[in-house]
Amino acid sequence: MILAQLSDPHVRLGEGGAESRESLAAGVDAVLALRPLPDALLVSGDLADTAAPEEYRIVHEQLARLPMPVHVLGGNHDDRDALREWFPVAGAAAPGAGRAGGAEYRYATEVGGVRLVVCDSTVPTRPEGRLDVEWLEAQLGAPAVVVAMHHPPFAVGMPALDEIALGAEDTAALAALLERSPQVLRVICGHTHRAAFTTLGGCGVFTCPGVHLTARLEIGAPGYTVLAEPPAFALHVMLDGTVTTHVQPIER
Ligand SMILES: [Fe+2]
Ligand SMILES: [Fe+2]
Repeated sequence: MILAQLSDPHVRLGEGGAESRESLAAGVDAVLALRPLPDALLVSGDLADTAAPEEYRIVHEQLARLPMPVHVLGGNHDDRDALREWFPVAGAAAPGAGRAGGAEYRYATEVGGVRLVVCDSTVPTRPEGRLDVEWLEAQLGAPAVVVAMHHPPFAVGMPALDEIALGAEDTAALAALLERSPQVLRVICGHTHRAAFTTLGGCGVFTCPGVHLTARLEIGAPGYTVLAEPPAFALHVMLDGTVTTHVQPIER
């Protein structure tokens, strides 16, 4: 299994719009340049910045350049119903009431013999995350599983990001689930706009850098500074029954 991961394109219109479009295009170019091509691409949330329909049209147009299956998940900037409309998925529940509500956009699929479980960790209109651990547990019946969600279930040491991570109660429940689910080989997230790694319940947990903007590395500092540091993407590769995660800068 080779799974590429791009995160947080935050495509927007108006000020900064051109830069966001160019960043996503460069990310797609970088995935297209890989040899061998990955089996699939995951985009781990915040596809759009304000959830305007035109933003999703642009994201869809860019991702349509890729020949491999593309799986997306919702971030706190996304609209569940817009995701359903632009990236229809069998098994992702029926439309609801837009950004203010609507059923979760979540599903399980297969990438190179590994089950990819795509969670919806969003709380409509809120920046922080939650997780339906019971739903996740019901998806884990496969020999090898990678779990994806937008909000990381761990602190990166930057308070402004940690305040809007996955909630403590759900993180504890996820840790207990991972502890008894050795078939989960990796949990992959977005949202932090930085690469970071830890373990939870004995499982490796990773957040992917942003494909557009990144957050300055300042442990313990209040707030955070958004930078145009070199963006990057991740490549998760199954080797001898374990998953190795690479982080690759994107040249501009
Ligand atoms: Fe983001
Ligand atoms: Fe986010």
